[in-house]
Amino acid sequence: MPDNLKQSNKVKLTIDGKEVEVEKGTTVLQAARQASIDIPTLCFLKEINAAGDCKMCIVDVEGRRGFVPSCITQVEEGMKVRTDTTELNDARRVMLDLILSTHNRDCLTCVRNGNCELQTLAEKFGVTHIEYEGEKMEHKIDDLSPSIVRDNGKCIMCKRCVAACKNVQKIGAIDLSGRGFKSRISTENDESLNNVNCTFCGQCITACPVGAIYEKDETRKCLEKIKRQRYFCCCSNSTSSKSSTRRRIWISNRYKCSRTNGNSTKKIRF
Ligand code: SF4
Ligand code: SF4
Ligand code: FES
Repeated sequence: MPDNLKQSNKVKLTIDGKEVEVEKGTTVLQAARQASIDIPTLCFLKEINAAGDCKMCIVDVEGRRGFVPSCITQVEEGMKVRTDTTELNDARRVMLDLILSTHNRDCLTCVRNGNCELQTLAEKFGVTHIEYEGEKMEHKIDDLSPSIVRDNGKCIMCKRCVAACKNVQKIGAIDLSGRGFKSRISTENDESLNNVNCTFCGQCITACPVGAIYEKDETRKCLEKIKRQRYFCCCSNSTSSKSSTRRRIWISNRYKCSRTNGNSTKKIRF
């Protein structure tokens, strides 16, 4: 077929005045990222979750009523997109305010302090006080599993963990449960993660943008046991376990692990 009759697979649009050419089917968010234009996101996780829930990634598309979530909006020929206007940033600030209004905000003692996507965005958008103080639901921390702690008081309902567990790991140990004010991330019958089909792979932890699901850190307990000389040291080459990447991991000699293999990691499932 002659070149001039071939249907082009490319789409041209402008983002913040910059002309961008991308493949058909690309989302506005992907197009912006390809052009090194930063659009804030919270629920989006590349290749894992694009549900359009948090609305942090909203953009202004000329000719469209209201703002659209860029993570689920596909590019169109001639589209004119703006990502960084006063109105957009005001709307993002309100969204952050609403999330924070029901959030347990004890940042100083949070495991993700300094490495939290919500904290970073709140700082970026100048959220210095909470306008809409909301009623908070009581949540029990689930720390019964050997390696994972869930704290729904910090959960922002982005569902990144659900997508990682269901779509990537194909396990489906956690899901959205309840309605309205009572919606939460939970397991079947609200059981502890320890009593469901969770394999303790830790992918939900990697996906979570905040401190709502995290590794159990028993380094202090282990060091205490070492001090009492009832345990000896063994090495692990795990890349995901905090205790093994930041410092040596110490576990009971009943695990019979060698110095170099990954038996220790198998036992703790990371
Ligand atoms: S550890 Fe793995 S299996 Fe368990 S809830 Fe998280 S992602 Fe699912
Ligand atoms: S636990 Fe984390 S990843 Fe899962 S929905 Fe809550 S904030 Fe999102
Ligand atoms: S990142 Fe697009 S809606 Fe959450």
